[in-house]
Amino acid sequence: MLHAGRGRLQPGHRAIVLETVAAVPGMVGAMLQHLKCLRRMQDDQGWIKTLMDEAENERMHLMTFIEIAKPTIFERLLVLIVQGGFFNAFFLLYLISPKTAHRIVGYFEEEAVRSYTAYLAEIDAGRHENVAAPQRAIEYWGLAPDARLREVVLAVREDEAEHRDVNHAFANELTGERCVKLREHLT
Ligand SMILES: [Fe+2]
Ligand SMILES: [Fe+2]
Repeated sequence: MLHAGRGRLQPGHRAIVLETVAAVPGMVGAMLQHLKCLRRMQDDQGWIKTLMDEAENERMHLMTFIEIAKPTIFERLLVLIVQGGFFNAFFLLYLISPKTAHRIVGYFEEEAVRSYTAYLAEIDAGRHENVAAPQRAIEYWGLAPDARLREVVLAVREDEAEHRDVNHAFANELTGERCVKLREHLT
């Protein structure tokens, strides 16, 4: 559903569309790191599981929000088109520069944190009903049985902050690796 006249998705609908995109980078990164480890016959230092966990966590965000806002046909079509473009673009970017890919995801995640902060503001202002938390969310985040949407959004925002930190840390690590290689090359 769109805000009449403003063309902006309501927070729950916006979350659905964004989470379908957010769940892509972790899986692409995990797959390409997996292939790199096979080629180089080296340990992944826990990167693959971390990235797969991120993808699963984002999918759980999606599964939670579809119980709060039902996606429209337009949104489903948008998701289809965006996924086709984004998966391929991100795959290529990760092949060319995993460091840049993780850095960009770090910034996207920061945007996600802001987006959920705005969602909280909508709930607190009473513009968005603070409905009961879906059972799936209560079980997944171990929330109180009477938890509301506000607690769910807080838990999701915490996840996004963690994704931000992990992706920036991966980008930093890859930058460090490049510096070491350059130093070895120069000495
Ligand atoms: Fe998410
Ligand atoms: Fe995220």
